[in-house]
Amino acid sequence: MPNVVIIGAQWGDEGKGKIVDMVAARADFVVRFQGGNNAGHTLVVDGNKVVVHLIPSGILHPETVNLIGNGVVVDPLVLLEEIQELATSGIDVTPQRLKISSRAHVITPYHRYLDRYREELRGERKIGTTGRGIGPAYEDKVARLGLRIQDLRHPGRVARKVELVARFRNIPVDGDATLDLPPMRDIVDALVEQGVSLAPYIADVSATIYEAHNRGCNILFEGAQGTFLDVDHGTYPFVTSSNTSAANAATGSGIGPGLLENVTGIFKAYATRVGAGPFPTELDGDEGDELRSKGEEFGATTGRPRRCGWLDLPLLRTAVRLNGFTHLCMTKLDVLSGLDTIRVADSYRLGDRILTELPEDPEEIEQLEPVYRDFPGWAEDIREARERDELPDAARAYVAAIEADLGVPISLVSVGPGRKQNAGAWLPFADPAVT
Ligand code: GDP
Ligand code: IMO
Ligand code: MG
Repeated sequence: MPNVVIIGAQWGDEGKGKIVDMVAARADFVVRFQGGNNAGHTLVVDGNKVVVHLIPSGILHPETVNLIGNGVVVDPLVLLEEIQELATSGIDVTPQRLKISSRAHVITPYHRYLDRYREELRGERKIGTTGRGIGPAYEDKVARLGLRIQDLRHPGRVARKVELVARFRNIPVDGDATLDLPPMRDIVDALVEQGVSLAPYIADVSATIYEAHNRGCNILFEGAQGTFLDVDHGTYPFVTSSNTSAANAATGSGIGPGLLENVTGIFKAYATRVGAGPFPTELDGDEGDELRSKGEEFGATTGRPRRCGWLDLPLLRTAVRLNGFTHLCMTKLDVLSGLDTIRVADSYRLGDRILTELPEDPEEIEQLEPVYRDFPGWAEDIREARERDELPDAARAYVAAIEADLGVPISLVSVGPGRKQNAGAWLPFADPAVT
């Protein structure tokens, strides 16, 4: 049974949550493998909206087991709040339905403090992080200072590790009220208490996936962020602190890459970005405002307005290479309805050179001038289209031109936020769930 990896092909917020929720109807397991609560994945069922940050987007399907892999950084406070919020919406997140890797690293209040503090230090070159402590938590992991979920079961270990980090990172042990940092002893007490609440959820996620795969289960890996926020391959340093591209689905959940056969890239029919960093096709004026308001482009995590621009083919070609996409899904095509002309960057001009992929040098990325190809728009409302054939000619031509350029099938065109609002029926899991 091919397992499926869902990856954002741009800068995040491509609609991964919607697609994962839809595909999860046939999945036995949904696995998050990187990032943390910097993610905001929106699921819309029967007009009701649920946004998940840490819990995988399979949670609305009662039979699906949701796993948080070792590659995720987990803020226990946020996770417990998310469990509580889902409970108030009638979704029971029992330890049978949610399992957290004992190896996942913990985000603490001092990581959030360091995140904010460092952004201030950067001044004009700030990254525009989500302020959730993601970067500092991954730093501690790589520096071999990190607190892991399994440590929360042992009060002595928590105290010892927190004390060591405070020493290494010069964190004021008595806290800093102006920057919302509690004293270290209060942090330790809270972590130990959260550990008691989370204990029933702690599991060996790697072993769980391997055993499930051998039983023929359908396993869906849910990426967070997007390819160009990847710490190695993205628009560094304006990136997040994890590998967001497909290969990390293996390392971040503790399985071999051979288990990942179907790698599906999700991209919007245009482009958005939250936070700072280069964005070659960004629209600053009225056109950008129009896309933002029609697409409701406001961050699902921080509420910040998303920067908007035209679709960027050199960026997507690079994403195809970096992830080895076998399939693509285009989302939010409905947002483009009503535009006279739709522009797509076909290449970039850099001095007297023409480039067809994203260059590696950040200074070059800042200087790129997109070379556009124009497509005629369509006036029709396409939100009720359920087959690609039902789309207006101009919309079909737009999708077909992008598909031909990227050389990867666009298996689904999403035309609205709801589960059923899709032109095309994409079933990456041929068989229903085993359990
Ligand atoms: P994610 O982070 O990739 O899961 O994406 P977000 O949830 O942050 O942002 C995507 C937004 O677009 C959400 O509000 C979705 O409900 C919405 N959405 C997803 N697909 C479509 C679509 O095809 N059309 C429209 N209009 N909205 C969509
Ligand atoms: P989903 O999963 C969009 C951006 C931030 C900032 C940069 C670094 O919903 O697609 P961080 O807090 O991770 O250190 O911030 O990355 N960013 C996202 N942008 N969608 C996301 O997640 C993002 N997660 C982080 O805005 O520019
Ligand atoms: Mg999002």
